[in-house]
Amino acid sequence: MAPDDPDQNAPPNQDRDGIDRMLTPGLQARVVDKVTDLAATTVRDHVHGAPPGAVGRAREAALAFFDLYDQRPVKDNKGGSGFNDSLWLFCAARALAPDLIVESGVFRGHSTWLLRQACPEAEIHSFDPDLTNLVHRDPRGGLYDVDWTDKPLPSPQGRRALIFFDDHVNQARRVREARERGFRDLLFDDNFPAEHLYAVGVPPIPTLEMVMDPAIADHREIRWRRRGKSHHEVLDIGEISDCKRLIKHYFVFPDLAPLTRYSAGSGLTLVKLVD
Ligand SMILES: C[S@@+](CC[C@H](N)C(=O)[O-])C[C@H]1O[C@@H](n2cnc3c(N)ncnc32)[C@H](O)[C@@H]1O
Repeated sequence: MAPDDPDQNAPPNQDRDGIDRMLTPGLQARVVDKVTDLAATTVRDHVHGAPPGAVGRAREAALAFFDLYDQRPVKDNKGGSGFNDSLWLFCAARALAPDLIVESGVFRGHSTWLLRQACPEAEIHSFDPDLTNLVHRDPRGGLYDVDWTDKPLPSPQGRRALIFFDDHVNQARRVREARERGFRDLLFDDNFPAEHLYAVGVPPIPTLEMVMDPAIADHREIRWRRRGKSHHEVLDIGEISDCKRLIKHYFVFPDLAPLTRYSAGSGLTLVKLVD
């Protein structure tokens, strides 16, 4: 392995996203410039209600992310967020600048680390009923091995609060729960359209893409195959309609794979709920 590889000690099967890159400065700058421009225009056009300076923070965050990613404590995050989803999570959190963050779905702790890097002063509460995969623990955050609805939390009223769901649980249910508990700004990972459910191990059903799909009632029964196993789900259209009524703004961050050529993202999505 070349001596300038930032992950010389990494196992050979490690995710290479972010490590493999252009070394000619002018050519790496082309990649970085395109990503930072997209981060700035995306936040400008689609992130509603962020505190002043959000566009500049998003641009700086995207720029800083290329080096920050080298410092991640969880080197192998297979099954969790990769480079492209991580970059959007980092930029969105920086732009929204929350002082209270709830995270549902910790896995190895990579996204907790990202949220802490994005918002160093925030109060962070992280939930995952299965913490056996944990590699990194935030020294200042709360970490709980229960569902987030099983624990009282500080009220988000009057605070800049953000909740990140990456737990593969029914996303309509998560919208309902978050609104009942006073949250209005939500981020979701693994937001796949109905026709791509085969692309994820345990898809949340329904996803928000299914909630926002005007033709979803025509596909109430869904069957798919993944790794030799057949799956079958019947959607609750009433639940889907109820969820849609709670959504004020809905935005799926564009996949960065065409710009970075790293693994395809999982549809990180920002939702603002009605009051
Ligand atoms: C894809 S992983 C999370 C990845 C992580 N956020 C990251 O970016 O690296 C999904 C996690 O959701 C957890 N999970 C399953 N049910 C959950 C629940 N009810 N509440 C919170 N987490 C849950 C699983 O145990 C698993 O660790």
